[in-house]
Amino acid sequence: MMFVRRIAVVGTGYVGLTTGACLASLGHSVVCADVDAEKVERLSRGEVDILEPGLAELVAEGLASGRLSFVLGASAAVTEAEVVFLCVPTPMGVGGIADLQAVESVVDETRELLPSGCVIVNKSTVPVGTAVRTAELLRRDDVAVVSNPEFLREGTAVHDFLNPDRIVVGCDQQDAAERVAALYARLGAPTVLTDAASAEMVKYAANCFLAMKLSYVNAVAELCERLGANITDVTEGMGYDKRIGQAFLNPGPGWGGSCLPKDTHAMLQVADAADFEFRLLRATIDTNERQRQRMVEKVRLAVTGKRGGSLSHVRLGLLGLTFKAGTDDLRDSPALAVAAMLKQAGADLVAYDPALPGGRDLGSVSVVDDPYQAAKDVDGLVVLTEWPDFRSLDWARLAETVRRPVVVDMRNILDPDVIRRAGFTCTSLGRR
Ligand SMILES: NC(=O)c1ccc[n+]([C@@H]2O[C@H](COP(=O)([O-])OP(=O)(O)OC[C@H]3O[C@@H](n4cnc5c(N)ncnc54)[C@H](O)[C@@H]3O)[C@@H](O)[C@H]2O)c1
Repeated sequence: MMFVRRIAVVGTGYVGLTTGACLASLGHSVVCADVDAEKVERLSRGEVDILEPGLAELVAEGLASGRLSFVLGASAAVTEAEVVFLCVPTPMGVGGIADLQAVESVVDETRELLPSGCVIVNKSTVPVGTAVRTAELLRRDDVAVVSNPEFLREGTAVHDFLNPDRIVVGCDQQDAAERVAALYARLGAPTVLTDAASAEMVKYAANCFLAMKLSYVNAVAELCERLGANITDVTEGMGYDKRIGQAFLNPGPGWGGSCLPKDTHAMLQVADAADFEFRLLRATIDTNERQRQRMVEKVRLAVTGKRGGSLSHVRLGLLGLTFKAGTDDLRDSPALAVAAMLKQAGADLVAYDPALPGGRDLGSVSVVDDPYQAAKDVDGLVVLTEWPDFRSLDWARLAETVRRPVVVDMRNILDPDVIRRAGFTCTSLGRR
């Protein structure tokens, strides 16, 4: 039987806005709050400024049906809520520790306003123990705190929310966990009901595992280069094993984005505090830092023909800047990290990204509106994000536009034969 809950969602970023719009589409009555007044105004007019397929449509539907509204500040959203979702940032703080300021400030702000019997649900990624600390900070015996980590991926956020691999809900009070799990009942996903600490741990354990998989494949790719094997065939052969799977097996310029770097560091801090030396995770992070440096060395060799060759006054055209294809999110993008290192090594950089408007100056690199402009008179093209569009560029035209026909494909998305036939030399990862 369908039941409707009054829900407040605090934070309207990738996770909060998706949560609010999707829960409204499932029939619930949702009030979303944010501290950013301009964002609240834009959202109230149905203007969504993040690139997420289907999200603007769901927001428009929710506004039109009256099931979705936007207000400024958490206190304006919670007074009638049965369930309050916290979807605020938990960025990397000093020494890698998760910064919980936003979570704590929402608790402070709403303590006196939460209706008796309501449930606070933490969707933000937070270290083990946060649910317990939140309850202590809240000082309300009549309000339960539940952990319900979110696993959506940027670029497919709506799809992932509505078709989750699993729902994880943790609380030391079983009835509160069951009430939260019931919100998702229509999705028919496997549901893990557990205690709060375990639910919080699931999110970190999953993200650290994904980071480890990527660091592992980057290391195997380097070894393939040295031994004359081909990483594409190697990962295909590995991925058919159901215990391994094909996902997260592509080598690249290092992992990044708004989640994996901060979550791996936060997990390391949690482990340190528990007096546990998490060597595997430390190696995962170190391998990633080394990978970025290795990408710069690859560019040096490809462009100058020499190991350690100078990039001073070398002009490079970068293809892709977002942390992955399908999103406009630049937070902790490995492409920007590699660009900053190339810039520091003396290179002049110009970039094209399908999700970014031209004319932006991102410090180390200026952005232009089309790939042929980015290729003009450059000494090399460097593919940094795996946008499929790059495969179908007119490579013959690009060959006429560049000063020197050199491509470094850090995502292995181009067909080396096509690129070479167009007249380029092409370097990729994990191939001889
Ligand atoms: N982005 C992802 O792919 C993803 C996936 C799973 C989990 N998470 C986790 O979800 C959390 C949110 O991530 P995000 O990417 O949606 O962040 P975001 O930066 O896109 O959005 C956060 C929003 O919260 C608002 N905000 C900040 N403080 C507030 C306050 N006190 N009251 C009301 N609003 C406030 C900000 O203005 C912003 O709009 C993080 O803990 C993140 O690790 C993110």
